[in-house]
Amino acid sequence: MDLIQIKGGNFLEGEINISGSKNASLPMVIASLLTKDKVIIRNIPNLSDVSTLLELIETLGSEFELKNENNSSYKLIIQTKKIKNNLASYNLVRKMRASFWVLAPLILRYGEAKVSLPGGCAIGIRPINFYLSMLEKMGALITIKDGYVQASVRKNLKPINYKLNFPSVGVTHFFLMMSSLIEGESILRNAAMEPEVISLAKMLNKMGAHITGYGTNKIIVKGCSYLKGLEIISPPDRIEAGTYALALAATGGKLKLNSISIKEIETLRYLLENTDVNIKSHKNSIELIKKNRIIQPTDIETKPYPGFPTDLQAQFMALMTYSKGRSRIKETIFENRFMHVQELVRLGAKIELQSDTAIIDGVRKLYGAPLMATDLRASASLIIAALRAEGTSTIRRVYHLDRGFDKIEEKLKSCGAAIERKRDKNE
Ligand code: UD1
Repeated sequence: MDLIQIKGGNFLEGEINISGSKNASLPMVIASLLTKDKVIIRNIPNLSDVSTLLELIETLGSEFELKNENNSSYKLIIQTKKIKNNLASYNLVRKMRASFWVLAPLILRYGEAKVSLPGGCAIGIRPINFYLSMLEKMGALITIKDGYVQASVRKNLKPINYKLNFPSVGVTHFFLMMSSLIEGESILRNAAMEPEVISLAKMLNKMGAHITGYGTNKIIVKGCSYLKGLEIISPPDRIEAGTYALALAATGGKLKLNSISIKEIETLRYLLENTDVNIKSHKNSIELIKKNRIIQPTDIETKPYPGFPTDLQAQFMALMTYSKGRSRIKETIFENRFMHVQELVRLGAKIELQSDTAIIDGVRKLYGAPLMATDLRASASLIIAALRAEGTSTIRRVYHLDRGFDKIEEKLKSCGAAIERKRDKNE
């Protein structure tokens, strides 16, 4: 296995090309299984979550080709003429929660599905009760046996009028895919409003679906009987861009993020400016300049979009460990998303946990240490903290990082960071 070694202290200076969005690409790839036609998705990021999903859908009958278009993006040509197999095995679904969403095309095109209960980051219990109750209302028969969800459809599926208890991103994606191919009008209230939901809705509309209200909390879908192929571009990864912006805020320097506009990271804008990051916004790039290393303590609370994203909470906490005062970070989306805390403390950070809130007392310096990545976004927070820490840090279990950050060490190295990926001789 690999590890990442970082010698802290360097400023960041240079340009980084932002890859296609992981969280937009994954549902788009799954939605391609809703049609027999060819689907082309461009700007697909080079990530292990993408390879895991491709491996899974190949077992279901999809054929695909990945073509490298430039250094950081792929063109995916995919076609699923027939769903040949209705089993999504534990081995593949456990690696990534999003693969659970194949349940939608399997039910719609095969009439039956056996999908392993999902895995993914261990950031909370992450139940699937909303998916199951939605499917039951649509008329599917559900049983859970041997760690698998087994779903079957006896008669036609019915349109639903459904209110989510919480605006779940995944359940909103699932609703969009299911209701696009269920005849009649389906309504989802308290829907997620994340940009990735908008990308999927736009894709489905281009395939022939009739979806309105996406981007608001009430989505209306007039289902149809057939969806067609299309060519579409996956949007830039707002979480990757936000991560580099927070790294720059920590180290100081000057960074240009290409292939992304400031509106994609609007929720971070005020927070970055509040800590003296000067932002110049261009049509398809963002310039960030931080001349000093003073970090203002700031309180945040994670919220569904347009609130502060839970996927940037760990990275923001890394920045706050260097602030000149006390900050409070409240996590309201996942109950166990504080596993990075114990690792940040190993670097010398002062953090106390009080149920869903971390209280961070900023320190002037952190000191390099051996660290363990615990989940995808937590890994990025350790990198941010280590980039400024005095001395050398080694981060193990970086396979978490490879799930969602394309060549992070190469991108940071090209901007002056002393960062290397190495084989871990102790493994
Ligand atoms: C997606 C993102 C993830 C992000 C999260 C929240 C992808 C691939 N992943 O995950 O990066 O952190 O949105 O923005 O896009 N819940 C239930 N029952 C359910 C479903 C969800 O209680 O049936 C709860 C979850 O446990 C969690 C909350 O709803 O507490 C939000 O989860 P959800 O929005 O569904 O996250 P994901 O779609 O899994």
